[in-house]
Amino acid sequence: MVLQRFLRVRAAWIFALLLHLTGSAYAQEVLDPDPNTLPASQDPNRQANGLAQLPPMGWNSWNKFGCKVDERTIRATADAMASNGMKDAGYEYVVIDDCWHGKRDANGFITEDRTRFPSGIRALSDYVHSKGLKFGIYSDAGSKTCGGRPGSQGHEYQDAAQYARWGVDYLKYDWCSTGTRNAEEAYALMADALRASGRPILFSMCEWGNSKPWLWASKIGNMWRTTGDITDKWEGKHRHSWGVASIVDMNEPLWPYAGPGHWNDPDMLEVGNGGLTDTEYRAHFSLWAMMAAPLIAGNDVANMTPQTRDILLNRDVIAVDQDRLGRQGHRVWREGKQEVWSKPLADGGRAVLLWNRDDTPSTITADWVTLGLPASLGMQVRDLWAHKDLGRTSARFSSTVPPHGVVMVRLHP
Ligand code: GLA
Repeated sequence: MVLQRFLRVRAAWIFALLLHLTGSAYAQEVLDPDPNTLPASQDPNRQANGLAQLPPMGWNSWNKFGCKVDERTIRATADAMASNGMKDAGYEYVVIDDCWHGKRDANGFITEDRTRFPSGIRALSDYVHSKGLKFGIYSDAGSKTCGGRPGSQGHEYQDAAQYARWGVDYLKYDWCSTGTRNAEEAYALMADALRASGRPILFSMCEWGNSKPWLWASKIGNMWRTTGDITDKWEGKHRHSWGVASIVDMNEPLWPYAGPGHWNDPDMLEVGNGGLTDTEYRAHFSLWAMMAAPLIAGNDVANMTPQTRDILLNRDVIAVDQDRLGRQGHRVWREGKQEVWSKPLADGGRAVLLWNRDDTPSTITADWVTLGLPASLGMQVRDLWAHKDLGRTSARFSSTVPPHGVVMVRLHP
């Protein structure tokens, strides 16, 4: 008995000594458990960063250029955006996606790939700013980016400080090579690091919806991917990515979680990349606007057709996306391959989308009652692709919609 007691006391003493010596946070928690310990994302004192009160707009290199990105492309894109009407229409951020990275230096700071970016990231950021645009960059919460470049894991504060020094305004933060890392913890850590950098940096989370960020990230990130990667196809799964219509089906049900400062991100636009018809691209752009999605162009904006330009620069449709009420629209009616969508707007009106997913033309009707409006209410109808006022109507609005196409109208009270 006495011996047993002696050993027990000894063991407890050795354990306490070990904890004292390691001095780790874990040891502290074991000795002194805090009943109020919450995941970092749920800290009641956490404040959102205040950015992105409207869905972010800009351009990102990935969909068109993939890993073949360099400073010439970024400069040409900034030049084009500043002069082709995109900047005036609200496209603001110029974002370099994966593959800009070089190695970490002897002190662990990330450097740029000097072959592709011979003038350096700082000079490129200055150039983008000189055009009146903002500058974005890409990293990853794991040890490596999806393109195999150095990730930020273990270097979060150091990377955020480097981005701030470079004048970065936007960080897209990916989820490759993260092993068993906890997404909530990993994104909260980078959000804190960005905040500590002292520079306002929009935080775009890209973990593909794996751990349902819409449930926990509204004060961590300004937008979160809700799906895997988009591809320039109409629908279906293609290896690891999804066509436009399939992405829409995954993002649509999440409408209650979006709002000013925190948006569902169904991935970047494919408009102008050549895989779809212009009718399909108009549907793609309209659906993103109805879903209050970030409008991040993903094509070669320095060399686009007039048709592509007309889609990306449709100010009536952009105004729906950028409506200050910040509500994500959603499907209110569906029968077979015909759908009606509605998005409430700040002026008390509605954006209404008739979407024909079928391969033949179809007449679709939006009923006021389905839209949650009294049938007798007279509304001004404006066609947002024909840019025409259609007069005052009550009860319903009908139109023939081309295959894979949309008719998008705005109802004014
Ligand atoms: C992931 C992301 C893409 C893109 C690539 C870059 O697949 O989801 O948007 O950033 O990585 O490698």
